[in-house]
Amino acid sequence: MSTRFRSVKGTRDLLPPETAVWNAVEACARRVFESYGYGEVRTPLLEDTGLFERGVGESSDIVGKEMYSFEDRKGRRVSLRPESTAAVGRAFIQHNLQELPPPVRLFYIGPHFRYERPQKGRYRQFHQIGAELLGDPGPHSDAEVILMLVEFLRQLEFRDLAVLVNTVGDEESRASFRAALVAYLEPHRERLGEDSRRRLETNPLRILDTKDPAERELLEAAPTLADHLSPASREHFDQVLAILERFEVPFEVAPRLVRGLDYYTKTVFEIVSKGLGSHDAVVGAGRYDGLIAELGGPPVEGIGFAIGQDRLIDVLPESFLAAVAGEPPVMLIPIGEEARVEGLAMAEALRAEGVAVVAELSGRSMRAALKQANRRGVRYVALVGEEEIASGELTLRDLESGEQETLSAAQAARRLKEQR
Ligand code: HAM
Repeated sequence: MSTRFRSVKGTRDLLPPETAVWNAVEACARRVFESYGYGEVRTPLLEDTGLFERGVGESSDIVGKEMYSFEDRKGRRVSLRPESTAAVGRAFIQHNLQELPPPVRLFYIGPHFRYERPQKGRYRQFHQIGAELLGDPGPHSDAEVILMLVEFLRQLEFRDLAVLVNTVGDEESRASFRAALVAYLEPHRERLGEDSRRRLETNPLRILDTKDPAERELLEAAPTLADHLSPASREHFDQVLAILERFEVPFEVAPRLVRGLDYYTKTVFEIVSKGLGSHDAVVGAGRYDGLIAELGGPPVEGIGFAIGQDRLIDVLPESFLAAVAGEPPVMLIPIGEEARVEGLAMAEALRAEGVAVVAELSGRSMRAALKQANRRGVRYVALVGEEEIASGELTLRDLESGEQETLSAAQAARRLKEQR
């Protein structure tokens, strides 16, 4: 017996009608982002592994355990992109985009890869819709990026999502907080799990992310980043919050939100949906003022977000889905041998009038064809037989009411428009 291949674990096929939903979401993203002056960037799926080690950070889970990395035939270390902020940063530097009038606003839509344990809402090939604003350090940029994200979600008809925001401060704030956190945790070393003990050395802030109940309890009395914020970071965050209030953006300050990628500075935010597992964010985001310099570029600040498209689509409101579903096409049914070709011509004529048509091609009987139409959920069929060929018309039948009428293609198109 020959092997039956299946899609690789953690990857999946997207099929119609679901792909229509994906396309509608992407079209909405393009429309909204372009209305804020964003242009689309398409970076390669494959990048130098070092880019993510440097950009996302070697102590992050993404780089430490989740990358699809390999050597190509010449021994170059390459990885399938696990995220796009570092890649957009690389492209920004490579193409000297700092020469454009700042800020530079870019968005992207496409697949990303992480070797994670697959489960609902978590795939090894997943899709992100993201946006990055590069070249402005001020809080108004943070606010505009959040406003754009909220506007996009509103257009998808989400009503009850709240943005969780926090600040991780600038480098100065984090150095002071890191020292205080290590000083607090060090005497309790034995109460920490293996991962957190390692993080105590590599990246202590990530311990705040822990799901372990014992560690969480220990963290209750830990120093908070809020107490170590530099005046500049405090001021920046307060201004962001004030603008969000002014625009009535639904947000909550989440003091423990730290995010799992190393490049973040100051504002970070996430959106978590109730429809998904409690720790599954639909959107991950934040400011990254040191990333471009870290990648060897000029000192250019950045802020952006990435939406997990797979997760977003899992929780889309019914009202948006209903609007996408639309009407099924009209089915053209030829009656008799000669009509099999003339029927195709009539289908073309209907399409030229803007009507979507599926043609019955197999030459099956009208009875069998009508059965097919029912199975497809078709409401209108266009019948073409000898008489219709002679008059250059078609008979449009409404399968719901059983009523029918013989019309030209143009008249039929008008009738369909009136009825829908
Ligand atoms: P991230 O939080 O790693 O951030 O990913 C963003 C979103 O991608 C997550 O909230 C989630 O919805 C989705 N996602 C991540 N991994 C998976 C997976 N295995 N399966 C399904 N969905 C997944 C970033 O990637 C940053 N680059 C975001 C950013 C842009 N920060 C600033 N600019």
